Amino acid sequence: MGGPWWRDAIVYQVYPRSFADSDATGEGDLRGVSSKLSYLSDLGVNAIWLNPFYPSPMRDSGYDVADYCSVDPRFGTLTDFDDLVSACGSRGIRVVIDIVPNHCSCQHPWFREALASPPGSTARERFIFRDTPNNWQSTFGGPAWTQTPDGQWYLHLFDASQPDFNWRHPDVPAMFERVLRFWLDRGVAGVRVDMANMLFKDPTLPDLDEHAAEVPYYDQPEVLQLYRSWRRILDSYPADSFPGPRTGVAEIWFTDPRKVRPYLTRDGLPQVFNFRLMLAPWTAGELRAVIDEARALAADTGCSMPWVLGNHDITRVVSRLGIDQELIRQPTDALRRGEAHVDVALGTRRARAAALLMLALPGAACLYQGDELGVPEYLGIPAARREDPTFYRTAGAAIGRDGCRIPMPWSGDTPPYGFAGEPVRTWLPQPADWARLTVAAGLSDPDSMLNLYRAALRLRREHPALGAGEMTWLERGAHELAFTRQPGFACVVNFGDEPVSLPSGSRVLLASGPVDDALLPCDTAVWLGL
Ligand code: GLC
Repeated sequence: MGGPWWRDAIVYQVYPRSFADSDATGEGDLRGVSSKLSYLSDLGVNAIWLNPFYPSPMRDSGYDVADYCSVDPRFGTLTDFDDLVSACGSRGIRVVIDIVPNHCSCQHPWFREALASPPGSTARERFIFRDTPNNWQSTFGGPAWTQTPDGQWYLHLFDASQPDFNWRHPDVPAMFERVLRFWLDRGVAGVRVDMANMLFKDPTLPDLDEHAAEVPYYDQPEVLQLYRSWRRILDSYPADSFPGPRTGVAEIWFTDPRKVRPYLTRDGLPQVFNFRLMLAPWTAGELRAVIDEARALAADTGCSMPWVLGNHDITRVVSRLGIDQELIRQPTDALRRGEAHVDVALGTRRARAAALLMLALPGAACLYQGDELGVPEYLGIPAARREDPTFYRTAGAAIGRDGCRIPMPWSGDTPPYGFAGEPVRTWLPQPADWARLTVAAGLSDPDSMLNLYRAALRLRREHPALGAGEMTWLERGAHELAFTRQPGFACVVNFGDEPVSLPSGSRVLLASGPVDDALLPCDTAVWLGL
C-alpha cells in the first residue's frame, strides 16, 4: 500500500467511560478496554483513539483536565495504560490519545494558583483574565466569561469549569511539549487535538461580529506555527518500527474548506477529521460535493482527512439518517429535542449504506464505538441523569450529547448488557430495548450491522483496490453515487425511490441490504467486483 500507516487506517474511537467496566463501578475503564482487544482485532481496526482518561472533575466528561500526565482513578492507573498500549501493540493495534490544549479544568493546579493570585500576576497570565468581558459566548450556551470574587473575569469558551489557556504565555506551550513527550515516551502512535483551531485568540479580544468572516478565537496564525513545532516532536520518535510515524489529527469544525486548508501541511499535524461527511444530509448530490471537497484538499496538500460518520459529540448516525433530512440543514438539533420523528429502521438501512460508502472511499476512516452495532441515539434519558454541561448551561433547551455516549451493550438481555460483569447502575442509563443490539447478538446474526462492518473491513484489507486504488466517479442517475477503484472494484449507492440496475458484468462482493435480480433497492449500497 505504501505511505504512512495513518493514511488509510481504520481508527476505532473508544470512549473509555462507556466502553467496558472491569470493576463494576458503572463507569468504563482502561482495563475494560484491554479486556476487549480480541473484539477490536476481530473487527479489523488498525488503531484506537481514546477519549480523555486524565484526572478530571468530569464536568465535561473528561475534557476538563486537571492533570495532563496521569490517569483518573476511575479509569485506572498509568500501569493500566502501559499495559493497554503493550497489549494493543502485540495485536498490531496503535493507540492514539486525546490532547485538550485549549482549556484545562478549574481544578488544574495552575488555575487554582491563578484564582489565589492577584490581578496582573504571572499565575493569571497563563489564562485570560480581564477587568471587563467582551461579548463572546460559550459553545455550551451562556456567556464565555465568569467573574471571580475580586471582580476580574476569566474566559472559558466552553463550561465555566474549563478556563481557556493563554497560549501567548510561554509556560503554556512549554507544558504541552512536556505532555506530548510524556505520552509519546509511553508508546502512543499519535494525538487527536481537541478544538485544534481555537488555542490562540486575537490579542485585542475584539467583540465577535456575527456577520464578519473572521472569528477572533479561530485560526490565528500562531496556531499553525505551534503545530509545526509539534510535528518536530512527533518526528523525533522512531518511524521505522512499530508504531511507526506518529500522527496528529486535528478536530476542526468547518464549513468553508479554505479555513481548513492551512492546517493540512506535511510539516503540521497533518490530519484533520472530515466532519462534513457526518454532517451532510442523505442526498447523492450533497455527499458527492463533500467527498470531492475533501479529496481535493487531500490531493492538493498530500495530507489526509479521515472520514467520519459519528463521534461522541453528534447524534448517532442511525437516528440522524432516520429523520426528515431537511431538519439536518437547520441549526437547532430537532432530533435531540425530541421534535423529529425518528424512523430507526430507515436510519439503520441508510447507516448500513453509509458505512459501505465511507469504507470504499480512499483514505483513513474513524469509527465511533457502537456505530458498528447500529445503536441509535438514546432519547429517553431522564433530566436528572443528564451529564452534558450543554443541558445545564441552556436550562435544558439543548438536551446535549449524552444520548450518543451510552455504555456499550456487549451481551445479555437487560442492562448493563455485559458492560460490567455484574448488575450496576451505569453512569448514563441504558435503554431497555437494546438486547438485539449487543455485540453477542450481532455476532450471531449474519445480517447484523456488526457482521456488515466485519465483512467490509475484511474486504478492505484484502481487496487490492481498497488501499491506494485510484477512485473515479461513474456518471449514473442523479440519485446515485457510483465510483470505481482500481483495479476491478466499484461501489454504488442508491439514494432514490426506485431500485436501479447494477453495472453489467459486475458481481456483488458485499451489499448493505438484499440485492435481487441485479437490482439495487433504495437506501442500499453495494460493493462490486468488475
Ligand atoms: C471537543 C470535544 C467535546 C468537548 C469540547 C470541549 O469538541 O469533542 O466533547 O466537549 O471539545 O473540550
